[in-house]
Amino acid sequence: MKHRAIKRRNIVIGIGTAAGAAVVGGAAVGAQAAPGGASRSAKDLGSLAFDPGAYTELTTTVTTQNGEMEVKYRFWKALTYVADPVDVKYQSLNVSVPVEIDGTAVDASDAPILLANSIGGYMPSSVADADGVGAGGPPMGGGAPGGGGTPGATTAPASGAGGETNETGGALSSNQLLAVAAGYVVVEPGARGRTLTNAQGGYYGTAPAVIVDLKAAVRYVRANKGRIPGDTERIVSAGTSAGGALSALLGASGDSRLYDSYLRELGAADASDAVFAVGAWCPITDLEHADGAYEWNWGTSPLKSGEQADRTVSEELSSQFAGYQARLKLRGLGGFGPLNARNYDDYLLKQYMRPSATTYLKGLSAADREAYLADNPFITWRDGRATFTWEDFVTHVGTRKKDAPAFDPFDLSSGENNEFGAGMTESRHFTVYGARNDSTGLENRRVAGDIPALLDLMNPMYHLGKGNPGRSRYWWIRLGTDDTDTSHVISANLAASASGLGDDVDHLYYWDQGHGANTDPADFIAWIARVTGHAKRSGRH
Ligand code: DHB
Repeated sequence: MKHRAIKRRNIVIGIGTAAGAAVVGGAAVGAQAAPGGASRSAKDLGSLAFDPGAYTELTTTVTTQNGEMEVKYRFWKALTYVADPVDVKYQSLNVSVPVEIDGTAVDASDAPILLANSIGGYMPSSVADADGVGAGGPPMGGGAPGGGGTPGATTAPASGAGGETNETGGALSSNQLLAVAAGYVVVEPGARGRTLTNAQGGYYGTAPAVIVDLKAAVRYVRANKGRIPGDTERIVSAGTSAGGALSALLGASGDSRLYDSYLRELGAADASDAVFAVGAWCPITDLEHADGAYEWNWGTSPLKSGEQADRTVSEELSSQFAGYQARLKLRGLGGFGPLNARNYDDYLLKQYMRPSATTYLKGLSAADREAYLADNPFITWRDGRATFTWEDFVTHVGTRKKDAPAFDPFDLSSGENNEFGAGMTESRHFTVYGARNDSTGLENRRVAGDIPALLDLMNPMYHLGKGNPGRSRYWWIRLGTDDTDTSHVISANLAASASGLGDDVDHLYYWDQGHGANTDPADFIAWIARVTGHAKRSGRH
C-alpha cells in the first residue's frame, strides 16, 4: 500500500461538503434517525464539530477484483470523538472520503459509511498515528491468549489458500481500502482496551470501555450529519475477532439506554448510536457461555501438546452448554427447527460445514479437486456435493487452540479475565464455574457483584434476546472452519438469534481457513451496496 500526500492540508473550508449536501432520500430502516435530524451548527457541537476543511489529500492503490485502482481521497486524522476524553490516543477516529477513483471524480456525500474497527484481543486500539486509510492495525498477536491472531481485515489467509484474488492473482486489499475504491466513506475509530492503566495502576480500558467508545464514535458521526461526508443513516460496522465481537455488539445494542451514564461521563455527542448493518469476522463473543460451547465443540480435540484437556472440566462445561442452548430457544436457519446440544452438530454440518466444503471443492480445477479428495478421504463427493460426519470434521480441524476452560480459566490467565478486570484488579472471573474453581486464592469463590451487569453490556446475545428495537437489521458473519479460538456455535447462535428476529443474515464459513480469515471481501463490499440501497442510487456495482 502506498500513500502519497498531495496537499498537506486543505484550507478551503467546506469544499465539497457544504451543509445539506449529505441530506439524502431514503428513510432509516431499522436504525432510528438521529435526534433533530437536520444538521447542527458547529457552535451546538462545540469540540465535537467535524471540520469539513481540515483534511489532507492522499492517494493510494487498491487491489480490487478488477485489478489495481488508484484512489484519491481526503483524510481527516485523529479526531477526538468525545468532549471529555479519558485518553485521546484511543478515543479518536480517522475519516477517509474518496474524491477520485481511477481519474474519475466521485461524490461520496450520500455514500454508505464503513465504520471499521481494528480491535484485536480486547486490547487498546489507536488510529492516531495511522498515515492513511486501513493503516491502523491491531497490535500484532492481538494480545490474545495462546498467541492470539492477527486480526484486522486480513484478506490473505494464513494458509495462503482460498483467498479472493483478482484476475492477475493478487490478494485483494482490506475492507477499508476496497470500501474507498467503491466510493464509500470509511471511518476508523480507536478505542480503549483492557491493558491500559493510569499513574495509580488503575485499569481504565476494561469492560465496558471499548463498547462505550465505539458508541461514542458512532454518535460523533451521526451528530455531524451534513458536515461529515456520507450517509449517517447508513453506517456499516466491521471488525474481526474481538473487533468482530464489538461490531456485533454495536449492532445488537443500538440505542440501548444501558450505556447512557458511561456515554454522558465521556461527553459523547447527543445522537443515536444505532448502526445500520454489521460485518463480523470470527466474533469472540458470548464470553460467559463460550467455555461450555467450546467443550461441546472441541472437547475431544487434543491440545497442541498432544494432551487432552481435563476430562472432568470439559464434560462439566459441555453439559452447561446443553442447558444454555435449551434456554436460548433458537431455531436454526434454513428451516432446521429448534436447536439443542444434541442436534447442533447436525445443524452445523448441514447449514455451514458441508456447504462450505462444497463451495471450496467446486472452486477447484478437476485435478486439484481430485488431489484434495485423495488427501481427505473423509469427504464423500457426489453430485457436486461434499458430505462427511461431524466426528471426521472435528478430526480434520485437528488441535484445539485453548485449554479448558478456554475463556475463564481457573488461574485468571486469559485476556478475557483481564477484560473483566476493574479498578486496581487486573483480572477477574466472570463465570460461576471459573470463580468456584479459582486457583488464585479468591476467598469467596464468587464472581464480583458488578459482573452480571457488565456481561450484559458486553454481550450481543443479551440485546438480541431482548429484541432490541435499535439493533441492526443486516448481518454479515464470517468464520474459518479451522478457527478454534472459540466454538463454531458462537457465530451460528448469533446468526440464529438475529434471524429469529426477522433480520437479514448472511453467514457462511470459509473452508480450511483459520482465525482472522476474510476471503470474500469484495462480496462484503457488494453486500453493503445492496443492503444500503447504494447500488440502486449510484447505478454502480
Ligand atoms: C482474539 C482472539 C482470541 O482467541 C480471544 O480469546 C480474544 C480475542 C482476537 O484475535 O482478537
